[in-house]
Amino acid sequence: GGVITLDPGYKNTGSCESSITFLDGEKGILRYRGYSIEELAEKASFLEVVYLLIFGELPNKETLDKFHEDIKSHSVVDDDLKKILDAFPKSAHPMGVLSSLTSALTAFYPSSVDVASEEAMYNSIVTILGKFPVIVAWTMRKKQGLPLEYGDDKLGYVENILKMMFKSPNGDYIQNPILVNALDKLLILHADHEQNCSTSTVRITGSSHAGLFVSLASGISALWGPLHGGANQAVLEMLEAIKADGGDTKKYMAKAKDKNDPFRLMGFGHRVYKNFDPRALIIKQAAEEVLADLGIEDPILDIAKGLAKEALEDSYFVDRKLYPNVDFYSGIIYRAMGIPVEMFTVMFALGRLPGWIAQWKEMRTRKEPIGRPRQLYIGETYRPFTTIDKR
Ligand code: CMC
Repeated sequence: GGVITLDPGYKNTGSCESSITFLDGEKGILRYRGYSIEELAEKASFLEVVYLLIFGELPNKETLDKFHEDIKSHSVVDDDLKKILDAFPKSAHPMGVLSSLTSALTAFYPSSVDVASEEAMYNSIVTILGKFPVIVAWTMRKKQGLPLEYGDDKLGYVENILKMMFKSPNGDYIQNPILVNALDKLLILHADHEQNCSTSTVRITGSSHAGLFVSLASGISALWGPLHGGANQAVLEMLEAIKADGGDTKKYMAKAKDKNDPFRLMGFGHRVYKNFDPRALIIKQAAEEVLADLGIEDPILDIAKGLAKEALEDSYFVDRKLYPNVDFYSGIIYRAMGIPVEMFTVMFALGRLPGWIAQWKEMRTRKEPIGRPRQLYIGETYRPFTTIDKR
């Protein structure tokens, strides 16, 4: 082989060419297929964005309706999946459950690994878009000891997700348009983010020609970690800890700056954004609106704003260009919606699903080679073997 360039964390290595998401970290620009995240969050529905990311164009009404119908025709999961879900302890973290169930889907829908034709690929895509929300909702209901239910096919994609999650055991469910709009926006803001850790994982897994569902399952596992999607849970837990500590933000700022303390200010910093995270700006505003609309006064929001203000004025954070990221305010909205904190990263996965699918489809369609980085070996040179009695 030729000369190997070392780039830990792939900070400066492009792994593919892509026409899905454009990101300029200096200017804080994020666009899906050329459309700005600000406009999409304001004017599009999540399902339109799903279609846009995966197929490259905004759908017209007819195309979107057909797409939604196709997804709805896959909105029932095999009953045996309930048995797998039942076997998990109630204490299981929802992200582990989500990853396992997504992987398990392959067993029930084995044809989903067929990508020989565009039609076969399309079928796998609408299958997972139909079944994933069911798994998400059931993962939450299992945790809460609620019966596993289906939604209502007459509802919109996001409305139906909320109904599946929140329908009471006696069947009651009152739809709140404020929550539908808020979730729609949050899912759009999470829908893709080019070659981040979980997306790269999906592409690498898929590059061995493993099927779509297991590729997604590995992406879910990558998303779980607190440096990535798990940060949204970690942020809320951090804000709660600060609140319990009498709102002592200074103490946590000091911990975050202390190089001997592994603690980081969760929800701060980003590999690519070095000025601001455009998603965080939209989410902060949405958090204020949703709380106001619902008439909730959450002291956690004040702590978050106070912490952000202090950090933005502190030379440690300014010098390192650390700003609030997408995960900093999202949990405040999820919590106002009644979603338990351990489910926050699952909600991130629900939003990121179309991005993962679009990136997997692009990778397979472009017939990209297997992902296989090299290394610089720094271990022992040759050593003669010694038998166990001589060691
Ligand atoms: N708190 C305190 N110090 C930090 C933080 C933080 N949140 N983030 C980075 N730093 C420091 C870091 O210690 C380093 O300092 P020094 O140069 O003195 O050694 C410098 O800033 C650069 O950090 P890095 O770790 O080299 O940067 P990275 O690009 O490898 O990591 C990151 C990016 C997002 C993993 C990191 O900023 C982080 O751990 N943030 C907290 C977790 C978080 O909020 N993750 C969500 C990311 S956005 C959405 C997503 O991906 O899901």
